[in-house]
Amino acid sequence: MNGMGGPEEALLSRLAGQRIGGPFFFQSSVDSTNRLALELAKGGTAEGTVVLAERQTAGRGRLQRIWQSPPGCNLYLSIVLRPDIAPQDLAQITLLAGVAVAEAIATVCPEGVGIKWPNDLLIRGRKVCGILTEMRTDAGKHALIVGIGLNVNISREDFSPELRQSATSLKEETGREVSRGDMTVALCERFGKWYETFLRDGFDPVREAWLARSIMVGKTVRVIFREEVQEGTVTGIDRDGALLICTAPGAAIRRITAGDATIVKE
Ligand code: BTN
Repeated sequence: MNGMGGPEEALLSRLAGQRIGGPFFFQSSVDSTNRLALELAKGGTAEGTVVLAERQTAGRGRLQRIWQSPPGCNLYLSIVLRPDIAPQDLAQITLLAGVAVAEAIATVCPEGVGIKWPNDLLIRGRKVCGILTEMRTDAGKHALIVGIGLNVNISREDFSPELRQSATSLKEETGREVSRGDMTVALCERFGKWYETFLRDGFDPVREAWLARSIMVGKTVRVIFREEVQEGTVTGIDRDGALLICTAPGAAIRRITAGDATIVKE
């Protein structure tokens, strides 16, 4: 991978022996690292496999959107996990990913990093990273693909006009180029650490860290999913990763499982 800030071997050796430590598949161009990771999972690839690409031609975003993936400036990577947990708990790993990525981002940009439900990473209110989790099941065994798209060195003027106001990159926020190799190592390390915590101690520490990084708790939000609009004050998240909102004093707490959330009142 050109411009990773050093040869690929250096990256491999920095992560050797870690929970998220390869095998690594480096692609100069691929339709979607998630799609390739799902294919590798079907072929039996090990937990800890990482697919990285310089560019994606059909990067997948949440809610069937396209993830713009220009070459040479950002990170597009997918991690394969094979957690031996109940299917209903798999969503917890999506939240875990948000916490791990937030910590990796904070290594270069300590101020202003927050998580917007379900798992957008924002810096000072602008989206710097999106996470898309996909799953496949073979013979009753689950493989989870966690796809991470992190804007590293893209310049504001290179975002498409519709994203220019709402998106940002590490370079825009720190005022300097950030090594994609270092960010890859930080992401895999933080992810591995949180995954081990989760397997050992369960979801509670993950939820605590997620809530501490959340920009939404206590705020009034509007969530739009298809034609449905819901508004209320965020009280937290539940064990399935659903957003909990209170729509009126005394009303039952509502669970929201999908949609786009915006803060309407601080
Ligand atoms: C979102 O909509 O916020 C989620 C975007 C996830 C994008 C990443 S880039 C690497 C991986 N491969 C994909 O096709 N999508 C994810």
